[in-house]
Amino acid sequence: MKILGIETSCDETAAAVVELLPRTDGGADVRVHANVVSSQVALHEQYGGVVPALAAREHAANIGPVVERALAEAGHPHIDRIAVTRGPGLAPALLVGLTFARALSWKLEIPVVGVDHMDGHIHSNWLSEHFPAADIRFPALNLIVSGGHTDLVLMRDHGSYEIVGETLDDAIGEAFDKVARLLGLSYPGGPKISALARSGDPMRYQLPRPMLKSDTFNFSYSGLKTAVLYLIRDITNNARPLTDQEKADIAASFQEAAIDVVVQKAIRAATHHGIGTLLLSGGVSANALLRERLAAACQANGMICILPELRYTTDNAAMIAVAGYYSSPTPEQPAMDANLRLGQNTTA
Ligand SMILES: Nc1ncnc2c1ncn2[C@@H]1O[C@H](COP(=O)(O)OP(=O)(O)OP(=O)(O)O)[C@@H](O)[C@H]1O
Ligand SMILES: [Mg+2]
Repeated sequence: MKILGIETSCDETAAAVVELLPRTDGGADVRVHANVVSSQVALHEQYGGVVPALAAREHAANIGPVVERALAEAGHPHIDRIAVTRGPGLAPALLVGLTFARALSWKLEIPVVGVDHMDGHIHSNWLSEHFPAADIRFPALNLIVSGGHTDLVLMRDHGSYEIVGETLDDAIGEAFDKVARLLGLSYPGGPKISALARSGDPMRYQLPRPMLKSDTFNFSYSGLKTAVLYLIRDITNNARPLTDQEKADIAASFQEAAIDVVVQKAIRAATHHGIGTLLLSGGVSANALLRERLAAACQANGMICILPELRYTTDNAAMIAVAGYYSSPTPEQPAMDANLRLGQNTTA
């Protein structure tokens, strides 16, 4: 089955053509024929974050050419199904992709299925060339770390999810972005913090590990961000700028604290639920230290660790196409739900 994936939930206009070849075990082998991502980062950078109305305007301008390019790169194949993100995300941005997908499905007379963006991130793990999809065993625990989410999701099968832990306030990616702003780095801050941290000392400043000792598998990242704010104030006394070395040491110390919590909690949750396979997904899964630490912790605890390939960590439509393969089209057209919660994609 060839699926056209479409993604416009935030600031990337993306389209992909993915072929799924069903296996006898109910799964499918995956081939990506095209994966086109048009990023709006340069536009939103000047505002320090994503501006929804501008994002929608850009999506509207780019969606046609991006889909056309994906179809051309794939050699204009017959498409069996369209998979489109219906939420969660920015409402005006989501509407552009959904409207386009619904119109195209009508024109081509093929079904369109609405996909949960987070279900897409989870399925970025099925796009790995190093770890064949056939080898991923259920139950698995997904650690989703992105701009809007920090979730621990118990996955019993494709589409069968239980959120066993989540953030009570800011998401980890949001914390990276906010701390970056405190250090004078531009949006999106995650990659810049991680680059700066390479020349920093992660032990120089002791930062809190919020919720690490709590009995739940929930997270909280707004306190860590505030701790960095107070740390900067204490260092500079609001009287001088930070030195480059101080900035690097703060970035490294923050990164260490942020990653420490998710890795320890993920292992603890997997142990508690008797799960031997851990999947990582979401934009922050591009972070090299997180990948290294999670892999090492899994190895030390006899668990299998699956990491998405870097090109599928941030928003893309290939992951949406794979998630769309495992969702069934319904007679109704998919509707937008900006606050869609994982496991509740029932009206898609
Ligand atoms: N190397 C990195 N280290 C840390 N954070 C990173 C890195 N690369 C990207 N990020 C962070 O990932 C986030 C973007 O991820 P993603 O695109 O999945 O989020 P989103 O789509 O905005 O949110 P969501 O998927 O929850 O709706 C940003 O917060 C960005 O700073
Ligand atoms: Mg995302």
